[in-house]
Amino acid sequence: MTTSVPFFPPDLFGDDKAVAIDIIRAAGTGSKQRFILGDAVLRLEQRIAQDTGAQHAIAVGSGTGALIVAVHALGIGPGDEVVVPAFSCQPVASVVANRGGIPVFADIDPRTLVLDPERTEQAVTERTVAAMPAHVFSMMADMPAFREIAARNDIRLIEDAAVAQGARLGGRAAGRWGDLGAFSFFQVKALGAIGEGGIILTDDEELADRCRALRNHGQRRRFVHEEIGYNNRMDEVLADFLVHRISQLQRRLDRRADIAAFYTERFEPLSERGLIPPPSGRDGRCYYVYAVLTDQRDDLRRHLSDHGIETHVYYPLPLPSQPAFARFGRGRRFPNAEAAGRRNLALPIWPELTDGDVEHVVDAVLEFFR
Ligand SMILES: Cc1ncc(COP(=O)(O)O)c(C=O)c1O
Repeated sequence: MTTSVPFFPPDLFGDDKAVAIDIIRAAGTGSKQRFILGDAVLRLEQRIAQDTGAQHAIAVGSGTGALIVAVHALGIGPGDEVVVPAFSCQPVASVVANRGGIPVFADIDPRTLVLDPERTEQAVTERTVAAMPAHVFSMMADMPAFREIAARNDIRLIEDAAVAQGARLGGRAAGRWGDLGAFSFFQVKALGAIGEGGIILTDDEELADRCRALRNHGQRRRFVHEEIGYNNRMDEVLADFLVHRISQLQRRLDRRADIAAFYTERFEPLSERGLIPPPSGRDGRCYYVYAVLTDQRDDLRRHLSDHGIETHVYYPLPLPSQPAFARFGRGRRFPNAEAAGRRNLALPIWPELTDGDVEHVVDAVLEFFR
């Protein structure tokens, strides 16, 4: 059967493609000829600081770039341990290892799939300098618990909010719970861009100043390199496009939330048959990805494909099982992360799905478990 409900939107930016072309033309023909770190980047930083309540927002080259700069700005270096989730996108571990630090994996909660606070605290040693919880799929990590752990153990907190633009937990914006928070603007994120982009949030002026220098080769003044930094800067075209798109973010998130609520309401009765939807509710949710859990994941995936519905399996191999990170896993097992890799199946949730598309997905899932 041909695909009738693709996993990603076949047309990512719709009417905004015309806006993108106007922005590119304006940047290309403008008298300033400034293509990086100019007025548009400043506008984006101010807008995101205002929307989230952060004191400082520092735009960078990607979500990974945001984490690279965050880890460096906190002074994490050789031998320093950072507790990271065993089930996540790989930058949580690579950015630590690339500074000579040691990513110490901790297992996740089996239901919410985010880093487990208790296991995080158990992984803290005298060499631990930070923890890096990441929000996963549609769930924010338990940030109040992580703040307590950080305070109790005198360690820093980096909040990987790459997937959680626009999310709030108890009224506080995602990205604002750690010493530093990071968003990604990768094209399919809730606030996606026409290229790579990311941003760092912090309320700490010194950290903000260091991040600004590090993203631009360690410069505070041109051609004066106070420390070794990176080329980790944001393009003007991208920033301008994001400023335009951000006005649609809430509407797009609301539609994602409605689709998620509909799926969850219809799937909850299937839990006795082995299908576990994400927990219902809206607080601390981001709806980047909607993933169900089932032991029959591969059969369900085939069944949905036969009905023209495309699905995705995220992180089938947890990080400690990846060749690149095996040495940091030290042969330990992470049963919840392993089960998540085996059992998760992500369903389409993009905002332009029609109600008919969403009902088609629900009907096909219900038919499988009937
Ligand atoms: C949890 C998490 N952290 C970091 C990143 C990295 O972001 P980027 O792709 O913009 O480098 C991603 C990307 O998907 C992510 O999901």
